Amino acid sequence: MNKPKEPSNHRTIERVLSGMRPTGRLHLGNYHGALQNWVKLQNDYECLFFVADWHCLTTDYADPKDIRGNAENMLIDWLACGLDPKKCTFFVQSWLKVHAELHLLLSMMTPLSWLERVPSYKEIRQQLTDRDLSTYGFLGYPMLMTADIIAYNANRVPVGEDQVAHIELSREVVRRFNFLYKKEVFVEPKPLLTQTPKVPGLDGRKMSKSYNNCIYIYDTKEEVRKKIMPAITDPARKRREDPGHPEVCIIHDYHKLYSSAEVCAWCEDGCRTAKIGCVDCKKKLLEGMDAFWDPIREKRAEIAKHPEQVWEIAKSGSEVAKILAETTMEKVREVMHLKY
Ligand code: TRP
Ligand code: SF4
Repeated sequence: MNKPKEPSNHRTIERVLSGMRPTGRLHLGNYHGALQNWVKLQNDYECLFFVADWHCLTTDYADPKDIRGNAENMLIDWLACGLDPKKCTFFVQSWLKVHAELHLLLSMMTPLSWLERVPSYKEIRQQLTDRDLSTYGFLGYPMLMTADIIAYNANRVPVGEDQVAHIELSREVVRRFNFLYKKEVFVEPKPLLTQTPKVPGLDGRKMSKSYNNCIYIYDTKEEVRKKIMPAITDPARKRREDPGHPEVCIIHDYHKLYSSAEVCAWCEDGCRTAKIGCVDCKKKLLEGMDAFWDPIREKRAEIAKHPEQVWEIAKSGSEVAKILAETTMEKVREVMHLKY
């Protein structure tokens, strides 16, 4: 386990922090879009990764019963995919009440208009029409995210394009706080943008649980096969002898993730010239997918036998995180004259 390091604005190694909501099983989009990158980052940065369970409630407040089980599965997926608790720190947001304290204090000084203009606020409200999101908590969600980040004085936040506006808000809040209380208590976090590959869902749309088009990290080999074999390919290839266009086919996107350069070239050439059929192409893909996922599946099954050990890791990580966040909070309470 990492020794807690004294937070400082002049670290030689940058601190990375990121969180994931425990909303359900992780799918390949989550893996290639975030987790795979986290696994790389743990070698180059001081990393903190957390279960963003309170964040689930900003949209799913009416149905919280699955959070614990989802969190457990997510932690198992993290470990199976190669996040290593010897290299990084895992914690659970709701175990660290300082996130709530900081969120409250920041809410006092954050103009409402800053939150209202975050683009995802309107977008998500329009998308999720089945529930009432005219809540205080949902509007404040980027504020909670700000508290998550700056409680640790994290310099870098690996996020997707869609979350960059949230980091921008965090930076504004930091500047306002430091200005109001005349002390550099917080550092301005920066997004850490990394190239992520395209991972379409089985129907060609974005891979998403709500579209029911996902391949999950803990789907079995057979389940993956049952999803891949009937998946739609280039509609131009109605018959085996019709040439196709790999660039419009999800199977080709998946080849790029799991197959060697030779196999990718074989797929591209064979598709365009109708030398191969889609069934051959898919079978070849499954070989590559199995080679990639089999060891992870095995590791996952092993880890899943001992969920109590997984919680133990989250517990000791949370203790480390607590020391870091408390150090910041002491300074916050001090400059806000709340230490008495
Ligand atoms: N907003 C992120 C998501 O929905 C999760 C998250 C919460 C997060 N707090 C964060 C990510 C802080 C990075 C930093 O996926
Ligand atoms: Fe897609 Fe492969 Fe069929 Fe071409 S041959 S359409 S890439 S599955």
